[in-house]
Amino acid sequence: MMNVLVTGCCGYIGSHTCVELLENNYNVIGLDNFSNSKRDVLGKIENIVNKKIKFYEGDMLDKDILNKIFLENKIDLVVDFAAYKSVGDSVAKPIDYYVNNVSSVLTLLQVMKEYNVKNLIFSSSATVYGNPSVLPITEECEVGGTTNPYGTSKLYVEGILKDLYASDNSWNIIIFRYFNPIGAHKSGLIGEEPNGIPANLMPYICKVATGELECLRVFGDDYNTKDGTGVRDYIHIMDLARAHINGIEKLKNSNGGLFIYNLGTGKGYSVMDIIHTFEKVNGLTIKYKVVERRSGDIDSCYADASKALKDLKWSTQYDLADMCRDAYDYVNKIK
Ligand code: NAD
Ligand code: UD1
Repeated sequence: MMNVLVTGCCGYIGSHTCVELLENNYNVIGLDNFSNSKRDVLGKIENIVNKKIKFYEGDMLDKDILNKIFLENKIDLVVDFAAYKSVGDSVAKPIDYYVNNVSSVLTLLQVMKEYNVKNLIFSSSATVYGNPSVLPITEECEVGGTTNPYGTSKLYVEGILKDLYASDNSWNIIIFRYFNPIGAHKSGLIGEEPNGIPANLMPYICKVATGELECLRVFGDDYNTKDGTGVRDYIHIMDLARAHINGIEKLKNSNGGLFIYNLGTGKGYSVMDIIHTFEKVNGLTIKYKVVERRSGDIDSCYADASKALKDLKWSTQYDLADMCRDAYDYVNKIK
């Protein structure tokens, strides 16, 4: 059985991916420092699948804990989710972001190299495309033009991985560029739980729906889109999580390579589409008002996801109604 090290295993994407990995009979070795997650997530993952994770609490910047993990376990592959992800925070604290999102990956790569483990899946973001000049976005589109340290940190790591592969073609690496994951596992046990006031659309809508927040601010209605509000490619978290299983299969059948895939549905929905679908499937009204644009936002961003379909035989199964229903179910359960 393959041993997969999942860094950031208790976070939003990490926890859902652990469920998929365990259900597909991978052994999961998890690392997290709980900088943006809660300890009880571990037990929840284990309850959903009725299997155990071998868990290490620690920081991916700490070479000693990584050495310990690789010494105590025969790691076959690493899925790296450990990073900070708040765009606003990254502008205020660039050093923290570059250390945690770039230096930590270098530490991980050093240890992987020492133990001759060269299979890696890295969590990148559609943000690396900056303001895309062509839609839908293919993996061949130019990257760059990021407007904040968070986005730039992902761009830097992509560059590091490309250099690494160029230096040694036996590295076997997938870079997944996630679009906008939302929703939750159907059990309602795990989901997205940002600290404080949410910066992202779906978590904010959920808090308006539960009454914790008064009113959604729609950031601009004068974008060059069908209704003037921003258009994004929202993808159900379980579709995104499942893609990692397809990714691992790909790496198992490859002797070396650097593969880049967009993970999105290929469909763009506006902020108004999200509000209306959320209202319809959950039978409630979301109070909103249109305010100024948020700086750094773009008109539209959605994927051409055909490369992942062709190469990984992966495509999405859930639609926007599923995403809105599952997101709300989760916040209701934890309320
Ligand atoms: P998250 O914050 O929910 O999860 C990240 C996890 O990593 C948390 O549990 C946190 O405690 C842990 N962590 C952070 N730094 C660590 C460190 N130095 N050592 C050990 N653990 C550490 O974020 P997420 O939404 O699950 O995102 C996972 C990855 O996917 C990140 O790399 C993120 O940048 C990337 N990504 C996320 C999105 C998104 O919309 N959620 C989009 C594109 C890319
Ligand atoms: C944001 C980040 C991106 C990151 C992604 C996932 C920015 C500029 N980009 O993407 O780097 O990878 O989150 O963490 O922050 N909106 C509102 N009101 C709100 C919140 C959002 O109208 O309260 C609108 C936005 O203007 C946008 C859409 O909803 O049009 C989606 O926003 P969001 O969920 O923050 O995702 P992105 O901006 O796509």
